[in-house]
Amino acid sequence: MHGRDASPPPSPADRRLTAIARHLEGSSAVDMDSIAASPTSASARNSVFDHVVRAPEDPILGVTVAYNKDASPVKLNLGVGAYRTEEGKPLVLNVVRRAEQMLVNNSSRVKEYLPIVGLADFNKLSAKLILGADSPAVQENRVTTVQCLSGTGSLRVGAEFLARHYHQRTIYIPQPTWGNHLKIFGLAGLSVKTYRYFCPSTRGLNFQGLLEDLGSAPSGAIVLLHACAHNPTGVDPTPQQWEQIRQLMRSKALLPFFDSAYQGFASGNLDIDAQPIRMFVADGGECFVAQSYAKNMGLYGERVGALSIVCRSADVASRVESQLKLVIRPMYSNPPIHGASIVAMILKDRNMFQEWTIELKAMADRIISMRQKLFDALRSRGTPGDWSHIIKQIGMFTFTGLNSEQVAFMTKEYHIYMTSDGRISMAGLSSRTVPHLADAIHAAVTRLA
Ligand SMILES: Cc1ncc(COP(=O)(O)O)c(C=O)c1O
Repeated sequence: MHGRDASPPPSPADRRLTAIARHLEGSSAVDMDSIAASPTSASARNSVFDHVVRAPEDPILGVTVAYNKDASPVKLNLGVGAYRTEEGKPLVLNVVRRAEQMLVNNSSRVKEYLPIVGLADFNKLSAKLILGADSPAVQENRVTTVQCLSGTGSLRVGAEFLARHYHQRTIYIPQPTWGNHLKIFGLAGLSVKTYRYFCPSTRGLNFQGLLEDLGSAPSGAIVLLHACAHNPTGVDPTPQQWEQIRQLMRSKALLPFFDSAYQGFASGNLDIDAQPIRMFVADGGECFVAQSYAKNMGLYGERVGALSIVCRSADVASRVESQLKLVIRPMYSNPPIHGASIVAMILKDRNMFQEWTIELKAMADRIISMRQKLFDALRSRGTPGDWSHIIKQIGMFTFTGLNSEQVAFMTKEYHIYMTSDGRISMAGLSSRTVPHLADAIHAAVTRLA
């Protein structure tokens, strides 16, 4: 009995989300089966949904909601991971505009449904982009690729497939990781555990902790790996560390599930950023890869991505694909055509591909230059602390090490918005806004040590 608390009991969905939230706060496993359904109130009310309680904003997208409500002219949104130009504007790549124009001008194009697995050209070209044009796995038809709704949808389809067809129901995700991972895999019915990844004192990789945790994982467990530009930490293993991870995982038959949301965004080079995945594919073993074109082609709202499953043989790959169709069909039937057509056109045409790589490199270089500018600005202010992690970390985000109190202070006093874990999107910064951010960090660090 909860005394005077007259609020209605939480719904089963609420209870699942609460379990996930508790997990995010620190415990290590979510077991969805143990969350029993609770009765819903049947008392007379105005709406049959009166019992529905307001859900909290998404921790990342909620930052933008708060930002939009702020009337300050100096406000700065460093929460969401979306690229901005030096002028602070969203960017549509020239090559994307060109591809769209060609699609529009082609009057023979129709709007029929795509197959359940999506656009065939897109799938073939996406597999080659991530695994390499000369990948033996591709040449031997051991890879099945299905077009999905961006990176999130690819992860979700992969998760559903694993929950139905894989003998091990435990997935290990890095601690910390992109907030949606826990929910995607948890709600698909997998049991989610974490492995150590980040070392707060060095603001680098906790490699020893990672090896220990994966070393003690049960044989066959699934392991979620960020292919590059780890979100939120900006910390990636070195090639030598990747090789050790690969050896350990293969020796224990752990199943790699790569999340590749930033190919080309980390180093500016598509092949370098895909290298960790290619190391795992080169050994002949099996793995999952979720690809997103949101960031590297700037196609955020088009929701274009792909799930590739690398199998031991062409026969297994084709059976796996047949089951993927059964996952997708009742979920969204088949994927949208427009974004995938843009991607396929760019990947297929040598000149357009070249143009894309140049534009992609320019985005990555601008982000890297923002790192240097922010680091220099903090140094010139004499801000206490070692800020070298800003230039050592890679990709869209810097995990600043600022605590939630300091973040709240920066939002209140400087109108700077970011997630409460201190992650900032470097892509949201410009030469004009770096001094404002550096002033805010300086004030936060000196006043709220
Ligand atoms: C690590 C990671 N994975 C996946 C995604 C999925 O993005 P989308 O569904 O927009 O492709 C993101 C987006 O921020 C991400 O950071």
